[in-house]
Amino acid sequence: MPNGTLAAYLDFAPREESFRDVALAGLTRHRKAIPCRFLYDAPGSALFERICELPEYYVTRAETALLAERAGEIAARIGPRARLIEFGSGASTKVRLLLEALDKPSSYVPIDISGGMLHPAASAIAADFPALEVIAVCADYMDPSRLPTLVAATRDRRVGFFPGSTIGNLTPDEAVRFLRGCRTLLGPGGAMIVGADLKKDPRALHAAYNDAAGVTAQFTLNLLARMNRELSADFNLKRFAHEAVYNEGAGRVEIYIRSLMDQLVTISGRRVAFVADERMHIEYSYKFTIDEFRRLAARAGFKPLDCWTDSEDRFSVHYLVA
Ligand SMILES: C[S@@+](CC[C@H](N)C(=O)[O-])C[C@H]1O[C@@H](n2cnc3c(N)ncnc32)[C@H](O)[C@@H]1O
Repeated sequence: MPNGTLAAYLDFAPREESFRDVALAGLTRHRKAIPCRFLYDAPGSALFERICELPEYYVTRAETALLAERAGEIAARIGPRARLIEFGSGASTKVRLLLEALDKPSSYVPIDISGGMLHPAASAIAADFPALEVIAVCADYMDPSRLPTLVAATRDRRVGFFPGSTIGNLTPDEAVRFLRGCRTLLGPGGAMIVGADLKKDPRALHAAYNDAAGVTAQFTLNLLARMNRELSADFNLKRFAHEAVYNEGAGRVEIYIRSLMDQLVTISGRRVAFVADERMHIEYSYKFTIDEFRRLAARAGFKPLDCWTDSEDRFSVHYLVA
């Protein structure tokens, strides 16, 4: 029985070798790239929390206001005794709004690749919701079919929660593959609540990813600092710059690290050359219209039922059934 402590902490975190292998493969290809999941080590997760408070970064405020306003309606859609499975739970802040509104939720399963953030956040939820079974899973959620079987092992209705427009970090094909995996994990009768950022004035998007205080730049460049810490790399952070541009045709913000000069860097004993102005791709953040998102969900076999937006139409939350 739940007693205010974590029912389980399952550690399936990718090991250091996998970061080294992925980083070296990404740095030695023709167009350099490192997947955005590596942004979230402990300092990266803390910087992301600071981004959420920035005046220009409307995403977190808009989604939180929307969830606070609609939690009752969403909870009514979900019904009683559900298991809530959150993909990329981070600080587990927004989910509190749902947990408070839900009718006797049976369990909460936060999944995050960053154990440093996951463990305290999940423990705090267990302490604040003593009737709830909390099973924390430190893992890469990209292939939901490979998550530990305990995630899906329940007779209760399984409902996925994917806030933060994290879905926008995936290309449309990856997003469809991911959602298909979720549909299998959630089973018949399952549902998914997904936060998706909306297309808007490119100036607002540019400001959100290029804040005046430079916290987003610090967050991006922390990836180089992380390689220095974990992979014996010797990146000089002053010789690289964060770059975020909105590609209107593709409907996405593209985030790169740009080399400010010709330079050689050593990573895990391997030398990697950068030429001046060369860009290393780090992250996409796709923006959607409501219809675009609903079509994407339908491609993954979900039926889009409800869509809520905030009072300024900046952000959308979708309720999809499997
Ligand atoms: C954009 S943050 C969103 C956090 C929170 N859900 C919110 O809405 O504010 C993305 C979260 O997903 C986690 N994450 C990113 N890629 C992941 C992956 N492939 N597998 C598991 N967690 C991942 C990060 O550690 C981070 O906590």
